[in-house]
Amino acid sequence: MMNMKKNSDIIISPSILSCDFSNIESELKKIEKTNAKWIHLDIMDGHFVPNITFGAPLIKCIRKKTNLFFDAHLMIENPQKYIESFAYVGCDLINFHYEATLDNTKNVIELIRKLNKKVGISIKPKTCVKEIEKYFNDVDMVLIMTVEPGFSGQKFMDFCIPKIEYVRKYAKENILIQVDGGINLETQKQAKDAGANVLVSGDYIFKAPNINIAVNNLL
Ligand code: DX5
Ligand code: ZN
Repeated sequence: MMNMKKNSDIIISPSILSCDFSNIESELKKIEKTNAKWIHLDIMDGHFVPNITFGAPLIKCIRKKTNLFFDAHLMIENPQKYIESFAYVGCDLINFHYEATLDNTKNVIELIRKLNKKVGISIKPKTCVKEIEKYFNDVDMVLIMTVEPGFSGQKFMDFCIPKIEYVRKYAKENILIQVDGGINLETQKQAKDAGANVLVSGDYIFKAPNINIAVNNLL
């Protein structure tokens, strides 16, 4: 059955961190049948965040299984050392944390651009959005984290909402504003009202009784 289109301006990026890793291929096929066009890949190194997930070898394998847009969220130290490998295995957008680059931020943005990938910059809940304002025109997407990065299933931190509003007010018109962490039926509305147009969701989608309905509820 075709899915009803709801809001074509909103992009849903389900996070495979919440999927059944023993059946990744079938989980990806389930997402392909929904109105989500992206898949969010949470890459964690056990240093930048207190958890370890997966890296380029796994992405290389799943790249062969799906044409979904690969939205890579690098929660790693020294992202510049690994960006080329993530580009090489087929990530479409490479999103790094500002806190992991600081003085090196401009070079990291240029590196991702040179590799012909979309560029995202992320900030953790306690980082002030004004610190990344000077990069608003250099990136395709700003990610405002609404949980401390590291784990799925955490509670949405609504004190981050003014940061979404700030990016929507001061960044270029076509900027993508992504929100990641604790998105559900209630919080998606707060995020969208503030100006977000890319919603990441782990548990709300993958733990739902019906993935199609869950995705549509966020559109
Ligand atoms: C957290 C990750 C998120 C997480 C979202 O560090 O970056 O992408 O998987 O999961 P939920 O939607 O369950 O908060
Ligand atoms: Zn994420």
